[in-house]
Amino acid sequence: MDVKKIMVVGAGQMGGGVAQVAAQAGITVVLNDIKTEFVERGLGIITKNLERSVAKGKLSEEDKNAALGRIIKSTSLEDASDVDVVIEAAVENMAIKAEIFKTLDKVAPAHAILSTNTSSLPITEIAAVTGRPSQVIGMHFFNPVPVMKLVEIIRGIATSDEVYKTIEALTQKINKVPVEINDSPGFAVNRMLIPMINEAIFCVYEGVGTPEAIDSVMKFGANHPMGPIALADLIGLDTCLAIMDVLYDGFGDPKYRACPLLRKMVKAGWLGQKTGRGFYDYSKK
Ligand code: 3HC
Repeated sequence: MDVKKIMVVGAGQMGGGVAQVAAQAGITVVLNDIKTEFVERGLGIITKNLERSVAKGKLSEEDKNAALGRIIKSTSLEDASDVDVVIEAAVENMAIKAEIFKTLDKVAPAHAILSTNTSSLPITEIAAVTGRPSQVIGMHFFNPVPVMKLVEIIRGIATSDEVYKTIEALTQKINKVPVEINDSPGFAVNRMLIPMINEAIFCVYEGVGTPEAIDSVMKFGANHPMGPIALADLIGLDTCLAIMDVLYDGFGDPKYRACPLLRKMVKAGWLGQKTGRGFYDYSKK
């Protein structure tokens, strides 16, 4: 199937990024969220990103306008009635995702593929709430989406080869690198990356070093583009905690226990860049 029109559910940092790269690749994108203000905010960030690329001479004004012209605003899942693929990037909550997928299954055309950008929830379980489990698949993008090349493509137990191939081709069309991964807790990247971040938070918790010191050792001693504490703030501390808990529940192994400091910060609502405060203060930026 040649994918011409998609819906992105969720206009937050991940959904907005996916909408941007798809629109830049010539695909018509229905950008959906529950409130108009969320869609407008997502579109505002996309516009700023594209304007920055124009200012740097990396994108023409015409291409910027064409990409923005391909994004259709939506606050109703009914708008999925004529799309080829849905990419769901709503909150990491199985009950909410199940409701979204049940609705999409009713309104999306029979040929449509329903994909999810979940960072750790089982694809097989999401697929099971629909009447089309062979057409449900994971497309796991990385933050910041316009920059990061990888998309982990995760098959559920029933995902068909044809659906896999269509999503692999779509990933390449939007200039990303697809890698096939099996449905397993945390998939592959987060199973390795988030425990590393959790360990960095333990280092802060146990007084091994300040957040700045822990970030510096990994930047200058392991050549990471940013330190693990700053990365946790970028990803969102709530997302990091949710992934640790999925790993802990999925494997039943205490090595995946979340650091108490991570849990405490999430309880405080200090979720990182998106709330203006995490391990670092972003309120003045
Ligand atoms: N949106 C769009 N573009 C962005 C951006 C954003 N949020 N942040 C940075 N960029 C662009 C900049 O505009 C710049 O573009 P240019 O090359 O065209 O000039 C380029 O990225 C480099 O940015 P900067 O020069 O400002 O800064 P850095 O060189 O330090 O790069 C970074 C910033 C790309 C964020 C880099 O630090 C990095 O790669 N960090 C690691 C990110 C990472 O590991 N992400 C994975 C997280 S895990 C995940 O997402 C999975 C989930 O399930 C939890």
